[in-house]
Amino acid sequence: MKKVTVHRKAHFNAAHRLYVKEWSFEKNQSVFGKCNNPYYHGHNYEIVVSVTGEIDPQTGYLIDMKILKDIIKEEIEDAFDHKNLNEQVPEFKNINPTAENIVVVSWEKIRKRLDEALELEVTLYETPRNFVTYKGN
Ligand code: NI
Repeated sequence: MKKVTVHRKAHFNAAHRLYVKEWSFEKNQSVFGKCNNPYYHGHNYEIVVSVTGEIDPQTGYLIDMKILKDIIKEEIEDAFDHKNLNEQVPEFKNINPTAENIVVVSWEKIRKRLDEALELEVTLYETPRNFVTYKGN
């Protein structure tokens, strides 16, 4: 069977602060710079959800894009959009909301909603030039 990959893009705005609680302000400042701003700062995140698998011979679909759209809305947009990630998203209570950690959390949230036969890769753009990918390895 031929494997294809479908991609769905979404967007959310969110605020965060990068710091390690156990460190002094000075040490956090030297490691995280502007990202350690105690008053937080925001990003316009773009997320690309890529699902790979075999085409269903009856429907011709890999996955109904309406279903994928709804999963992304519920797991990512409703959970992260216009939120302070450190303060309002439980997954980041004890881990830094870096692009690396956001992509892993996003992957885990979407993964549990998908058929096991489907492969998943998530790409997160923190800026148009900085992006990170995760596929569960
Ligand atoms: Ni930032």
